[in-house]
Amino acid sequence: MNKPTVVTCGLPYTNGLCHLGHLRTYIPGDFYVRYLRRLGEDIVFVCGSDNHGTPIVVSAEAEKVSPREISERYHKHFDEVFKAMGVRFDRFGMTDDETNHKRTDAILSKLIEKGYVYEQVIQQSYCPKCGRFLPDRYVEGTCPYCGKHARGDECDQGCGRHLEPGEILDPQCATCGTKAELREQKHYYFKLSAFRDYLLEYLPSLQGTINARNYAIGWVENELKDWCITRMMDWGVRFPGTDDLVCYVWVDAPIGYISFTEEWAKEHNDSWKKYWCEGDRVHFIGSDIIYHHCVFWPAMLHGAGYQPPTAVVASGMVTIEGEKFSKSRGYVVWTKEDYLDKGLPADYLRYYLLDYTSHTRELDFSWKEFQARINNELVNTFGNFANRSMTLVKNKLGHVPSVAVEEEIFAEIKKSLALIEENVRAYEFKAAVDNILLLAGYGNSYISNSAPWKLLKEDVPAAEQVLKNCLQIVKACALVIQPVMPESAQKLWEMLGYTDLIENHPISDALVPFENNELGEVKPLFPRIDDKQREELEATLAKRCEEAKAKAEGKNMTEQPVIEPISEEIVTIDDVAKLDLRVGEVIKAEKVPKTEKLLRLQVDIGSEVRQIVSSIALEYTPEEMVGKKIIVIVNLKPAKFRGEESNGMLFAAGEEASLLIPLRDVPNGTKVH
Ligand code: MSP
Ligand code: ZN
Repeated sequence: MNKPTVVTCGLPYTNGLCHLGHLRTYIPGDFYVRYLRRLGEDIVFVCGSDNHGTPIVVSAEAEKVSPREISERYHKHFDEVFKAMGVRFDRFGMTDDETNHKRTDAILSKLIEKGYVYEQVIQQSYCPKCGRFLPDRYVEGTCPYCGKHARGDECDQGCGRHLEPGEILDPQCATCGTKAELREQKHYYFKLSAFRDYLLEYLPSLQGTINARNYAIGWVENELKDWCITRMMDWGVRFPGTDDLVCYVWVDAPIGYISFTEEWAKEHNDSWKKYWCEGDRVHFIGSDIIYHHCVFWPAMLHGAGYQPPTAVVASGMVTIEGEKFSKSRGYVVWTKEDYLDKGLPADYLRYYLLDYTSHTRELDFSWKEFQARINNELVNTFGNFANRSMTLVKNKLGHVPSVAVEEEIFAEIKKSLALIEENVRAYEFKAAVDNILLLAGYGNSYISNSAPWKLLKEDVPAAEQVLKNCLQIVKACALVIQPVMPESAQKLWEMLGYTDLIENHPISDALVPFENNELGEVKPLFPRIDDKQREELEATLAKRCEEAKAKAEGKNMTEQPVIEPISEEIVTIDDVAKLDLRVGEVIKAEKVPKTEKLLRLQVDIGSEVRQIVSSIALEYTPEEMVGKKIIVIVNLKPAKFRGEESNGMLFAAGEEASLLIPLRDVPNGTKVH
């Protein structure tokens, strides 16, 4: 890639806060741009917020503000978070701004002119109670492909398919739950099916990650249906020649990429066409929106006479404990509230997200793994090597040695630079960052094996040689890690005695002999993340999931529980005496295979060990049951559950199965009176 290149990142919707999942689009995009720029490439890096579409109108209605107002608020939030995370766009625009309205109008008019758009009357869901049509998120129902619950435009809980207006089965109004009626509406369709041959020819040449290309080819080969590109609502870009329709959000959103380049060019007296008509176009996205970027978008561009994307770089999705990000279910880590506001360095998250796993694979986030990666790799290898080298020079030797750096050191650095660059260009970000760390690892082994602290006592010139070599490696490390961790790299640069900005130096300066006569102030580069801090971070997440669970089950802890009426049947003391209740201790617990709710417990009741099957698996894990002292009825007639014999029963209160346990410790088998 030596042509002018525009790099874009998937535009965040303006109806929610930035979470860690989003960052897997932006941080690799930013890393890529930073690295290539420091190899001398001409890149413009644009993004913006995606302001249209029904979810934003729904959120705005709920908050009783205008969609523009809510968009501006979240736009500002994303802009601030990006800056704090070191993600530096040349332009961060808004799809609702004038440039984008104009560019969308121009592209749509071109598509209409070329005959790629046709009119069709369709059956649209209409809510008789709310008195309005129900586009996209306003309607819910059943996915016609997989039968799962779905939203009007997307099967979000099942097969993930994009749904066309009118396709959803059993439509209901998402606002009031009323069964929707079908009414006729005139809409406009984009002839996507006409682009089949074009796409099959174009897609194999699409660069970027292989998942994007393969997924898109599969889609085009199997199902390429025309797209309804209008919606009957006010919020959006007016569809040319109509006064009650706007275009579907997925039309004007990617066009934003062009508009934001135009806005940047205007401000900088540059040309957007240089990038969009002659150069390369690289899109960073998550794998959830491959279809839109690799099928719909190239077809639209081609149809309107524009150049299609050169590369689509699609990351695997970020999950939490294997769960999809979900605000309503509590599986979410907010970038600002849960990370930046806790004082955690942006650089750590940048490093973690880039290096955790290969870019196209799913990334399951956990604080434990986060802590381990930072402490073991960053602190122990990179930080340790840099710190050891510089403190020895500064405090033990007392001056920067004037001896020349040895050739083998340059050879090693050169090898690293080539590997890193190759991986960056191949979108193998993990491999690239691994190679950066390997260079530090090389330095670490070199300093350990050469033991300059010993040489300082025995052979000062030899110690000087080793330390000068180390300084060269530290310099190279700082230069190559800068695109990953810009802030830390700058700090390291200053410790090495430089007073300018490291980002103004090309990567190739790693091969320029270390030139400073004096080091700056040397301090540890990376503080450790301690267990206490990690536990606090984990607790926040756990609490959120619990609260969400309680809320979803309608059992908000603060709400009054429903009290069941007291039984009218009277029992005598003799009836009670018939029940033999004992204290027992769970010594083993397992899930009953192929069941959801059953746990098989081995309970020590003093005289013997009893097997008890209990339906508490949704409330307790086997691990947390082991060691619990519980109350059991031991003279209950044996019963079988799913083929498993149960010899007794435990006691638990309420739907949450809060276990009855003895307050003071008593021996197993103690009778309950
Ligand atoms: N507005 C659309 C994109 C339009 S691009 C013309 C959208 N917005 S989003 O806010 O849902 O996502 C913004 C970016 O973050 C997208 O690139 C998306 O793929 C990415 N991700 C959002 N959640 C994600 C994960 N949980 N994991 C990985 N990436 C995710 O989609
Ligand atoms: Zn489905």
